[in-house]
Amino acid sequence: MNNIDSITNLYPRKERSLLGSRQSRSDRERENKHILLSFANSIQERDIVTYDHSRRVATYAQRLARYLGWSRRDARDLALAALVHDLGKTWIANDILLKADTLSDEERKTMERHPLIGARILIGCDVHPFYVETVLYHHEAWDGRGYPSGLKGEEIPLSARILTVADVYDVLTSQRPYKAPLSKDAARERLLSGSGASFDPMIVRAFLSLLDSQAHFTLPQRLCAISSTTNTTYHVVRPIGL
Ligand SMILES: [Fe+2]
Repeated sequence: MNNIDSITNLYPRKERSLLGSRQSRSDRERENKHILLSFANSIQERDIVTYDHSRRVATYAQRLARYLGWSRRDARDLALAALVHDLGKTWIANDILLKADTLSDEERKTMERHPLIGARILIGCDVHPFYVETVLYHHEAWDGRGYPSGLKGEEIPLSARILTVADVYDVLTSQRPYKAPLSKDAARERLLSGSGASFDPMIVRAFLSLLDSQAHFTLPQRLCAISSTTNTTYHVVRPIGL
């Protein structure tokens, strides 16, 4: 498995059913969950900021999937994928992963390999393709200008399109070493402006509708990614129901 093509050939550009029949799902469910939660723990050990981000993204993605009519089980599977969506970052060197300044073009290219690296790791563990393709395609864009494959529109699996919106909302509303968090309203505007370009318009509409219906929708950061010279503030992260 040495290049993007070999991965994308394994996971062709079309929508899949989630985890197949109820029977085959239940047979593999426990093993998949164990593997994915183990990887989530490894992310926690490697990079607490990415881990906390992933927990919030999992919660947003799970809520959004339920809002879109997904079953509890399917939404939970999406949350599991979301927990490990940045798994590939655990193999990115610290000087790039933790860099507070803007990345150079070369560093950005390295960072943009993380969906592919994460997908390769999951394939190596034989987890269900649903999780692999959700991780692999979470940085694709509705207009085809995303990565790693440049998929467009509904070529992008629905699970990845949901995850993208959840991911970006959390990045926008989180503090990072290089940026202050946006307010809910400012993040709302950014999602709207990216609708039809970066994001599936249907998913954005659903997310904003969910956002507007809940006064305390935005999750607190347990750990603020302020530079290491400042004090770190801890809050309680709401557990997600896996
Ligand atoms: Fe990512």
